[in-house]
Amino acid sequence: MPATVIVGGFFGDEGKGKIIAYLALKDKPSIAVRGGVGPNAGHTFTINDRRHKVRMLPSAVAYPSCRLLIGAGVLVDVDVLLEELKEFDAYSRVKVDNQTGIIEDRHRREDKSSVHSSMIGTTGSGSGPANADRANRTLRLAKDVDTLKPYLDDVSYSINRAIRSGEHVLVEGTQGTFLSLYHGTYPYVTSKDVTASAICSDVGLGPKSVDDVIVVFKSYVTRVGSGNLEGELSREEAARRGWLEVATVTGRERRAAPFNYDLAARAVMLNSATQIALTKLDILFPECKHAKSYSDLSREAREFITGIEDRLNLKVTLIGTGEDTYDIIDRRDQ
Ligand code: IMP
Ligand code: MG
Repeated sequence: MPATVIVGGFFGDEGKGKIIAYLALKDKPSIAVRGGVGPNAGHTFTINDRRHKVRMLPSAVAYPSCRLLIGAGVLVDVDVLLEELKEFDAYSRVKVDNQTGIIEDRHRREDKSSVHSSMIGTTGSGSGPANADRANRTLRLAKDVDTLKPYLDDVSYSINRAIRSGEHVLVEGTQGTFLSLYHGTYPYVTSKDVTASAICSDVGLGPKSVDDVIVVFKSYVTRVGSGNLEGELSREEAARRGWLEVATVTGRERRAAPFNYDLAARAVMLNSATQIALTKLDILFPECKHAKSYSDLSREAREFITGIEDRLNLKVTLIGTGEDTYDIIDRRDQ
């Protein structure tokens, strides 16, 4: 399976970072490429009790031999990127497409101060205003920025060549299906489409070059910012169930609701998903924490999984059972 795309199935924060870090360490892809909007997304993974957060680099940074690329459709915040290059000492393996868009101070300022942004509850990262400039064709691109010169590449060419020669490429999506500008809960959405086709377009990959699309769902639904969340629990109830989370980028509290089968079915359809990854099963079923094999799961947990598989008509191949990257059940070859 040379090209695998990973996308979020709900409103972002499904745990894509952990799934991608695991896939990178396990499958050893030669290249991971990040699509999606930009630094509004924060992906988290934990290895040996150390929590890592990335807003620009692919989460496959967890696997040291992987080249890390950023697609042309993504927005780069140069300061955030340079910080992450330093933090992960990743200078020699990161490349940014020549045509990647650049977020400037004025985009961040506008995103933080405009009434419209606060109505939507944006992350304040400047992504929306930068994508507006891009649509107006006034946005600066990576090739115009001196500090990025050592990292420039023709990313779409690099990944297509790698796939042609049989190398394994991981394509990392960000945000979640229902934050899509086209298919989400407009206007409470992000500034681009973020379904699998859009993620492929971001990195320059045609639809026939993709072998697998893994849609990631959390065992419950969370959402930050405004917009409808069906079945939303009160803050107290979310806290009681252990579902109250804090956002990676903004530090805001996430709103929470039970697993939504209708949304999940629609996400499977919109992304033409071939597999499901389900994260945080241990939050719903604490007795499953750190489980590494399906037979270690309780009957209730297994019923939850088979319920999802029956209703979505798709196999749950990866199951997250704890925070660590290796707290996972991998049923891909079962
Ligand atoms: P923006 O993408 O910063 O313009 O924010 C638009 C909406 O998308 C807001 O509700 C944000 O909270 C949400 N959003 C954007 N990126 C992410 C993400 O990576 N995870 C969760 N929510 C996100
Ligand atoms: Mg996140």
